Amino acid sequence: MAFPESRPRRLRRTPAIRDLVAETLLDPGDLILPIFVEEGLSGRRPITAMPGVDRLGLDELAAEAEVAKVLGLGGLLLFGVPSSKDLKGSGAYDDRGIVQQAIGEIKRAVPETVVIADVCLCEYTSHGHCGVLHGDEVDNDATLPLIARTAKSLASAGADIVAPSDMMDGRVAAIRAELDKAGLQQTPIASYAVKYASAFYGPFRDAADSTPAFGDRRGYQMDPRNADEALREARADLDEGADLLIVKPALPYLDILHRVKTETSAPTMAYHVSGEYSMLKAAAHAGFLDERAAVLESLTSLRRGGADAIITYSAKDAAAWLRTL
Ligand code: PBG
Repeated sequence: MAFPESRPRRLRRTPAIRDLVAETLLDPGDLILPIFVEEGLSGRRPITAMPGVDRLGLDELAAEAEVAKVLGLGGLLLFGVPSSKDLKGSGAYDDRGIVQQAIGEIKRAVPETVVIADVCLCEYTSHGHCGVLHGDEVDNDATLPLIARTAKSLASAGADIVAPSDMMDGRVAAIRAELDKAGLQQTPIASYAVKYASAFYGPFRDAADSTPAFGDRRGYQMDPRNADEALREARADLDEGADLLIVKPALPYLDILHRVKTETSAPTMAYHVSGEYSMLKAAAHAGFLDERAAVLESLTSLRRGGADAIITYSAKDAAAWLRTL
């Protein structure tokens, strides 16, 4: 059937008809809000490069968890900003560390909150790299036990899901073994299986104070020119025991997201990263874009592209907008 019998515009005529035939749903329950918790801070401290996002003190977490619950968000993803750092990132696996305490605060206030703990050393190492150094290189095998210990410490503190973002080879297997040994067989691993060495993490490094003191992360994060490699990473992590996969960044890597979802059929999350957030904010602030429309369209595109859930700094705004559509 061709035009004039076929007229695709018939199904676009009214909002109700468009809703009826819409293929993709965006729901607050699919959105995960990242939170930066700063040790020693009381109240909130704005992050310059991410307008609208603050670092939170421990005393702010109960209220934030309440807001997330009222908005119906799918979960919170925690990052720590410790007051001191060292060569081995020991703050990451300190059972009294800032994120471990944060998990306790949130769980006490709103126990049903899905708390996801980012597992990495970069916010805790004095050199800002995601593992321990051997000369100028990040030593993969020497880092694994520390990553595994971090995951165990965070899960023991009450994290519902641990999410390793360090990109060391073999970390998912190392974490699974350590969790199981500690009786934490039921804690899922959401692996940042596909994490590119991206310029779009710029604002995050300001937010989390995790800029590498020298060099960059291209020796362990993926090369943006590669797509097949993403599938190898995803399959390797599933083989090692990953329960969920994360693709990061999100919109510039929509092709990767789609392939990972369709070729593995594993639960897949997209991380709409700091730079993606800040670009939209800056353009909206300048009056070049309608923030609400551009954010909702971006998040909808990620769902359409294969994301079961989306990690986004716009989670609270998007949830509120979705409720008033
Ligand atoms: C830690 C980590 C980073 C992000 C999430 N976890 C920074 C990095 O790898 O440099 C980036 C998130 C964002 O930009 O929003 N390894």
